[in-house]
Amino acid sequence: MAASMGVSRFHKWSNGQLLKYFRRKLTPSLRGTGTSAAVCQPRPDHEDAGKTFVVLQEERRERAERSVLISCPSKTSEKKVLKFLSKHGAINNCFFYDGYGTYAVVEFANRDGIHSLHEATSLPSVLHEASVPFKSRLLNLKGNGVDQSNGPTSLKLHTQTSPPINDLIQRLAAEESIDQQLHSLTSTLELTNENVALRFLVCSLIKDIAGAFFPECTIRPFGSTVNGFGKLGCDLDLFLDLDSVSGSSTKRPSGLSVEYQVKRVASERTVTQSVLSVVGEGLEQFAPGCVGVQKILNARCPLVRFSHQPSGFQCDLTANNRVAMKSSELLWLLSRVDERVRCLVFMVRSWARVHGITSSIPGPWITNFSLSMLVVFFLQGRSPPILPTLDQLRDLASPADKCVIEGNDCTIVSDLTKIQLEQNTEPLETLLQEFFEFYSTFPFNRMSINIRKGKQVHKPEAAALHIQNPFEAGQNVSKNVNAAQLERLVALCRESAWLLAHGGVSVPPSTVRVASSGVAKAAPWGVAALLLPSVAEAAGVKGRRKKKREPASERIKSLLQSLNKPGKK
Ligand code: GTP
Ligand code: MG
Repeated sequence: MAASMGVSRFHKWSNGQLLKYFRRKLTPSLRGTGTSAAVCQPRPDHEDAGKTFVVLQEERRERAERSVLISCPSKTSEKKVLKFLSKHGAINNCFFYDGYGTYAVVEFANRDGIHSLHEATSLPSVLHEASVPFKSRLLNLKGNGVDQSNGPTSLKLHTQTSPPINDLIQRLAAEESIDQQLHSLTSTLELTNENVALRFLVCSLIKDIAGAFFPECTIRPFGSTVNGFGKLGCDLDLFLDLDSVSGSSTKRPSGLSVEYQVKRVASERTVTQSVLSVVGEGLEQFAPGCVGVQKILNARCPLVRFSHQPSGFQCDLTANNRVAMKSSELLWLLSRVDERVRCLVFMVRSWARVHGITSSIPGPWITNFSLSMLVVFFLQGRSPPILPTLDQLRDLASPADKCVIEGNDCTIVSDLTKIQLEQNTEPLETLLQEFFEFYSTFPFNRMSINIRKGKQVHKPEAAALHIQNPFEAGQNVSKNVNAAQLERLVALCRESAWLLAHGGVSVPPSTVRVASSGVAKAAPWGVAALLLPSVAEAAGVKGRRKKKREPASERIKSLLQSLNKPGKK
């Protein structure tokens, strides 16, 4: 509805009105607004409210299929670009960003716009080289009339990266309460609407390659792109969904029928490897913008890893990974139950990242997915609970929600409004502190974390950290974590809990110092101080050998000194 309004108005509006319209439409509702609410509420109503995960993803996917990605000269005139492109069809949305050059993401009102633009697009003529004649939706804008070389750029460029950690710490230090800091951290780091649109567009561009072999396939993003916990700069996990291709083989009509002749191979895994191998080859050979393609086909979960240069995304393409898709839906659902969930997950993920407790490189450390599980489990255990258990989500499901994947019951309710919990009004500050306390003393040596039941249960196997896979009960999602890494996590939780409880990071927010630049800055306190390296040093988790623990008063003194040191942010 909103889209069609935009379309019909487009031709009537002047360019100035048009640009204002685009800017208003694309201003993210939460970013940078901050909030002073002491108790968080579920996410505020916006155009996505009330939609299920599947509907929302499907809408985004469909919009991406009507979009193109255009490299523009650096001082492009937005007005001229839009005027030029609108000759090919009405435009619903457009935004610009700076990556490897300036790019525009342009969403047409329908696919005719893309057909018309393709008709008018030529292949480049290159001297001394040859070009692969693959006509994708990644285009270059050329020619006179788009470049304003003499004037400043009039483009509003949307950032696609998170701010440097020192800038973030400064921003948090200026907030007035820990609750506000946690909201500010979340709104600063979360994916913007534009970034999500760009991610779906990249999936759609990759689909055009995979579609050359499997025209009915779909490429869906999963993981932090869609689970509500994505930070700007996180990787793009893509799932090559062949279900609509293979689904038709299940129909067995009586009487005469025909079936496809197919190659037979040893196992599903072999099929996945073959499919990914050929799509990986297509990406490497034909897909503009896809570089550094690696086929990692012998991994437990075979994948093709590559960089998508125009967007700057590090991409992991998998196939036959439907449970991970369902886990993303589960986390998304939980992220929508209560705003505090996202605030805590963003904080815990950021805290773990800055202190080297987790890393994007695979290794014996806890992953972001497992950290989210720790937060979910902790919130299920509050009194009254802030999050439902997985069994409760299954019991609320309607028959249409029934989902079994490889013999595992993955059923969860899709209608968020069915989740009704007794009101819990604990402030985020309390929750953060008690999260750290909870995991400082959790009996990891004996007990497993089970979000299906919302209870700790005896570990079924020897593993330093045991977190039951939500949908595959026999599996431990953190089996990669070794004892040393778990010890670091616990030490850091202990130190952070202690600092929050004893006021070691509660420097009054009114305390300001004048930096060498002469600009007044608030000294890091609260959440900002918990992100400083000194916390990890005090917890003894940086070096190989544990630092001898000083008396608490000494530790606070040295921490406060480090916070107030000029030049240290
Ligand atoms: P980022 O670190 O921001 O990329 O978070 P992420 O949630 O996207 O994690 P990652 O890219 O490592 O994994 C993508 C998705 O795969 C996760 O969201 C999960 O759905 C799933 N996943 C990752 N690790 C595991 C695991 O150990 N077990 C299971 N069952 N699923 C996993
Ligand atoms: Mg990811």
